[in-house]
Amino acid sequence: MILSTTLCCSLPIIFASLYMLAITPTSYAAPSIFPPQNHTTPSSSDHEFSIAHYSPRILTRASLNIKNQAYYRKWMIDFYPLKVTAEDKKSYFQDGTFDEDLGQNLVDDWDNSANRGGYNAGVYTFTGPNRTYLGGHPPDELVVKVLRQNQPDKWAYGEVMALKLAGLYVASGRKSKNSIFAKFKKNRKSRPAIIMKKVRGMSLLKTTAWRKAGPAMKISLKNAVKEIIKVQVVDFAVQHGILYNDFHTGNVFVDLRRDGTVREAKLIDYGYPGMISIQSELTNRGKLEKYFERRWAKLWART
Ligand SMILES: Nc1ncnc2c1ncn2[C@@H]1O[C@H](COP(=O)(O)OP(=O)(O)O)[C@@H](O)[C@H]1O
Ligand SMILES: [Mg+2]
Repeated sequence: MILSTTLCCSLPIIFASLYMLAITPTSYAAPSIFPPQNHTTPSSSDHEFSIAHYSPRILTRASLNIKNQAYYRKWMIDFYPLKVTAEDKKSYFQDGTFDEDLGQNLVDDWDNSANRGGYNAGVYTFTGPNRTYLGGHPPDELVVKVLRQNQPDKWAYGEVMALKLAGLYVASGRKSKNSIFAKFKKNRKSRPAIIMKKVRGMSLLKTTAWRKAGPAMKISLKNAVKEIIKVQVVDFAVQHGILYNDFHTGNVFVDLRRDGTVREAKLIDYGYPGMISIQSELTNRGKLEKYFERRWAKLWART
């Protein structure tokens, strides 16, 4: 009797737990422990193998629907781009394979942690020769971002198109996939790869000035960065009808002076899901600034 009562009571719990297990998506990598001084920089192939422990984000129907996002506002149309034309398809990802041109991988666990991105399969220094498709940009001032998709999809086109509007785009092509057997295969699979201008600096949270700063200094550093980024976000929204929405601490690069003051702050990462098409009549800077402040408070809350 006792046994059957126990079973009756625990069965729903067992089933509920099994159900939870079944619907819970593969867990994301936990953010690495800060400060991140001890990261080794893996070589290109090492990193790609290591992706196994950064589970790819699962694009569910719910996550694709902008109206389900906590930040949604009526003036947001949808994630950028709204469409990709045949012309766009002819213009991008046509510059060949960059396999031989990749140097050091610039991405570490901190950059790739669940709340700071992780849509890339490595971002590398460009070590190749000065090819024509680089359009005269010095190769050592470029980086190559390899995307995770097998084919350039809507989001991949969106990323190169937004980078172009931001003045960071240089070229785009492919990078062969690394796998233990890939090298022996005839038709090696590849991923979309983007060559872009290298943005100087690093995340504010990685700078020595930040680590040494007391609470008052941290607030002043954050405010200085915020004012610069606000102008960039609002200008971009007004000029192109695209809201850069993912300005979390990992996507804002800062360049500090010796005395710790901010020389420059710049957005990196123009990829999904951070870019949103907004209604073209929304050129009201005040409204955009108000939204920016709220979003910033949320994204930088834990700093
Ligand atoms: N243009 C760039 N200049 C310098 N470093 C970059 C640039 N783009 C990306 N990175 C480096 O690569 C990391 C991951 O790139 P990001 O575009 O943010 O990828 P994800 O879409 O996966 O978030 C960044 O945190 C940064 O360290
Ligand atoms: Mg990012």
